[in-house]
Amino acid sequence: MFITLEGPEGSGKSSQLPELADFLRKAGYDVLTTREPGGTPIGDQVRDVLLNKENAAMQPRTEILLFQASRAQLVDQVIRPHLEKGGLVLCDRYADSTLAYQGYGYGRDINELRAIINFATGGLKPDLTLLLDIDVELGLARRRKVGDVNRLDIFELTFHQNVRQGYLRLAQAEPRRWVTINAGQPPERVQREIRKVILERLRARKQEL
Ligand code: TYD
Repeated sequence: MFITLEGPEGSGKSSQLPELADFLRKAGYDVLTTREPGGTPIGDQVRDVLLNKENAAMQPRTEILLFQASRAQLVDQVIRPHLEKGGLVLCDRYADSTLAYQGYGYGRDINELRAIINFATGGLKPDLTLLLDIDVELGLARRRKVGDVNRLDIFELTFHQNVRQGYLRLAQAEPRRWVTINAGQPPERVQREIRKVILERLRARKQEL
């Protein structure tokens, strides 16, 4: 099963993931965790180019293609092989980040982006996507507190608001794949909710097989 975590800045995805993976491993699942951009040696090099604050001259189409290059490598080298051997993949961001950030954030054509994403992923879609939804100002304040600010974090507030609204629209359009979780709650509660959703899906899946 392929599970992705999505959300705007400061939604806490990256800190929830290791604990979640530990829990699922203890429950007996063969879990692989990864993240985007990056997750492979080639993808990590692309990640450095994408997030480097000195690359202010980066053109929107260049950025879109670099995200897809990192993704294509990750899908073929890491995600598909693990899924093919029956494992569970937990990925911190995936294709929906492109739709939310480059599509809804920058206002690029969503259908055009879907075609490029489809090429990069070879059509691989998550079975379940968790949206860690958080108020934009609260999320950005959290990021500033930990001092972990990247090139995309320094865009203005409306950009991040559009990203969040984009996520909510994507979730609404595909309610079977997406589950929205209120990430403004204390982290322990968020973790509990995530586990509950995933365990329910895993059980439902077992029954289908
Ligand atoms: P990262 O430091 O991993 O942030 P986070 O902890 O929020 O996941 O940086 C990834 C940044 O790249 C983040 O701002 C979201 C952005 N992004 C896109 O704009 N498009 C994409 O397709 C992906 C995967 C990420």
